[in-house]
Amino acid sequence: MLHVNAVSKTFLGGQPVHALREVSLQVAAGETVALVGPSGSGKTTLLRLIACHLTPDSGDLTVDGQRVPRPSTAAGAAFRRRMVGVLLQDLGLIEMDTALANVMLPLRLAGVGRRDAARRAHLQLQKRGLDHRSDAPVNTLSGGQRQRVALARALACEPPLVLADEPTSNLDADQASQAVSDLLAQAREHRAVLIATHDPEVWTRCDRVLHLDDGRITPHG
Ligand SMILES: Nc1ncnc2c1ncn2[C@@H]1O[C@H](COP(=O)(O)OP(=O)(O)OP(=O)(O)O)[C@@H](O)[C@H]1O
Ligand SMILES: [Mg+2]
Repeated sequence: MLHVNAVSKTFLGGQPVHALREVSLQVAAGETVALVGPSGSGKTTLLRLIACHLTPDSGDLTVDGQRVPRPSTAAGAAFRRRMVGVLLQDLGLIEMDTALANVMLPLRLAGVGRRDAARRAHLQLQKRGLDHRSDAPVNTLSGGQRQRVALARALACEPPLVLADEPTSNLDADQASQAVSDLLAQAREHRAVLIATHDPEVWTRCDRVLHLDDGRITPHG
């Protein structure tokens, strides 16, 4: 489902930072993979490249047979809408809008009609025990509830690939466990799931763990 082939990324401006050095990896449909490594090792950079937020300096990435396009193109926008569901560390919710409106947004952008989008968004919230809060503005929700809204939004379009960056960092143990279960359940629906994490509760539950160190994939351990 996901192929990353010899991808490198250097950030310029001042001292160059070699964030990724010829990274290669694959994630199959139905597989959950954890990406672990020290702070600054390149985890978020790798997720942003796969999510079509950044362009690699070299190497190539494909998702479900489609090459990841350049971010600032129409193809890039279409790719982000259809191919990947992304759960970022800062959740990126629209604070003044309701939970339902936030989850409907990607569906509407994908061309789903208002009534159908509302139905599907409601279902996503319901699955996460949030149907009673669907009309609440996001800025009135608790941290764990906001996190669940963000997950509902990431999964609303049923993308073949799900990416999550430190999905449990702001959650208590119960919420974290639920969030991980929710993410891992995506693999049962034949999606590929890649999660950057420092949390053993997360990586011990994934099928496979990849270690990133100073921009390189290193052998396990
Ligand atoms: N936009 C940017 N401009 C310059 N340097 C950057 C940029 N984004 C990331 N970096 C640098 O690239 C390296 C990798 O950063 P990245 O965010 O991918 O690390 P990470 O593994 O996600 O770390 P953490 O566990 O702290 O989230 C770091 O040294 C970081 O400072
Ligand atoms: Mg990071």
